[in-house]
Amino acid sequence: MSEDIFKKITSHAKEYGFIFPSSEIYDGLSAVYDYGPNGVQLKNNIKEYWWKAMVQIHENIVGIDAAIFMHPKVWKASGHVDAFHDPMIDNKDSKKRYRADNLIEGYIEKLQQKIEKEVKKASKRFGENFDKEKFLSESPRVQKYKNQIREIENRLNNALEKQDLKALKELIDELEITDPVSGTRNWTEVKYFNLMFDTRMGATSESASTVYLRPETAQGIFVNFNNVLKTSRVKIPFGIAQIGKAFRNEIIARQFIFRMREFEQMEMQFFVRPGQEMKWFEHWKNKRLQWHLALGFDKNFYRFHDHEQLAHYANAATDIEFKFPFGFKELEGIHSRTDFDLKMHEQYSGKKLRYFDPETQETYIPYVIETSIGLDRMFLAVLSASYQIEKLDDGSERIVLKLPPVLAPNKVAILPLVKKDGLKELATEIFDNLKWEYQTVYDDKDAIGRRYRRQDAIGTPFCITVDHQTKDDQTVTLRYRDSMKQERVPVERLSEIIKDKLHFKHLLQSSH
Ligand code: GAP
Repeated sequence: MSEDIFKKITSHAKEYGFIFPSSEIYDGLSAVYDYGPNGVQLKNNIKEYWWKAMVQIHENIVGIDAAIFMHPKVWKASGHVDAFHDPMIDNKDSKKRYRADNLIEGYIEKLQQKIEKEVKKASKRFGENFDKEKFLSESPRVQKYKNQIREIENRLNNALEKQDLKALKELIDELEITDPVSGTRNWTEVKYFNLMFDTRMGATSESASTVYLRPETAQGIFVNFNNVLKTSRVKIPFGIAQIGKAFRNEIIARQFIFRMREFEQMEMQFFVRPGQEMKWFEHWKNKRLQWHLALGFDKNFYRFHDHEQLAHYANAATDIEFKFPFGFKELEGIHSRTDFDLKMHEQYSGKKLRYFDPETQETYIPYVIETSIGLDRMFLAVLSASYQIEKLDDGSERIVLKLPPVLAPNKVAILPLVKKDGLKELATEIFDNLKWEYQTVYDDKDAIGRRYRRQDAIGTPFCITVDHQTKDDQTVTLRYRDSMKQERVPVERLSEIIKDKLHFKHLLQSSH
């Protein structure tokens, strides 16, 4: 996959009604996107997969849907008012703003590319006898780059940990990092920039107070801890799941729907006995990876990235990274958040947020394992893993979205070969029968070959073609998206044949 493919995927998403830039007739709004007719179906199906995998099949996980606006103290308690910020730096010539740590990481990336170049050169020189591991550990030039990387990483991590903005600026100056736009080193000082959006709530400007658009859904779960405990029969260990919008004033908002200012999160907080959090952390790490793998994409598209530098509230954290067209990037976070959040909310609200454990006869603040995935990011992962350009036997090309059938926006397309001779009526009858069970589309425009291509491009797993023979023997052609195989099947057996592939049950069973 490459940047070039990524461009193709983004234009495909627009052309086929998956994703549109927000307010496009006004030239769009940066890093905000709308989902079109096919996009909303695919997104809802991903949500459904997550929700069922969390809430439906786990007796000890319940769901909630908290409001986006929350009491402003919530964000004081969670640390977002004081510490949810990025270190930013401006270039005075281009007037562009960058995340200081990203600029330094970009520099490290370039050193890594230099190592790869050395490897390529050496492998050409030594041919079959080339021993990559030996070369990497012995080449003086590679060692030099590796040492440089180590030193920069250490200094970067130190500066971030100590919130030492001066040290970040010094590193940028020392490494002579230039602005990719202006090419100059005319930088401002590094400053913190809070990522929360705020607005005013109240009738008059005097009485109005500042409220925030939530930057994560997790806090809605923590503040409802007592409510859920009182109203459901959950016993520790148990989870609370939620899907909802979150907002962040991201400075560097690029890469399409990878980093947005308004996005959706699917989060689950799993409450456990103190001291058992590492066991559950491992449990959820594996469970969440399995959820991804069950979709059937290449398993090499996924990897764990354990955090070395932990947030102040965490005692373990890992990302599930996905191989996006622009490289491996975070798709989901799994964090062991200790008792930090509940403890802070106790402190700020003055209310106890504790659990009486009937087994141990103890009362304690539970520890929390969080799984947190961006729905839009998951959408992009599914879209990019499904997008394929295939060369066909006749030399032509087809673009096909090989979506897992359960996630596909439309499951079945009903296509009468021609509109006349009663075929339209027959096709409509089949449509009217199947629509109760499956998201079905009817299409009688254009030649049949073009209609197949259109369904391939939006990932419809099954096409049903109604032709003159249907009138005689009540059979239709069933075409499979991935193999393009066609078979003649009786109309009355259609539902039964496709049912198995379209049921969440099998996907959920392999995700479990
Ligand atoms: N409650 C924990 C939390 O919010 P996070 O790592 O900041 O953790 C979790 O975010 C997930 O939310 C990320 O792994 C990513 O999938 C998604 N996410 C975060 N910021 C995003 C953005 N600006 N646009 C799209 N998705 C985002």
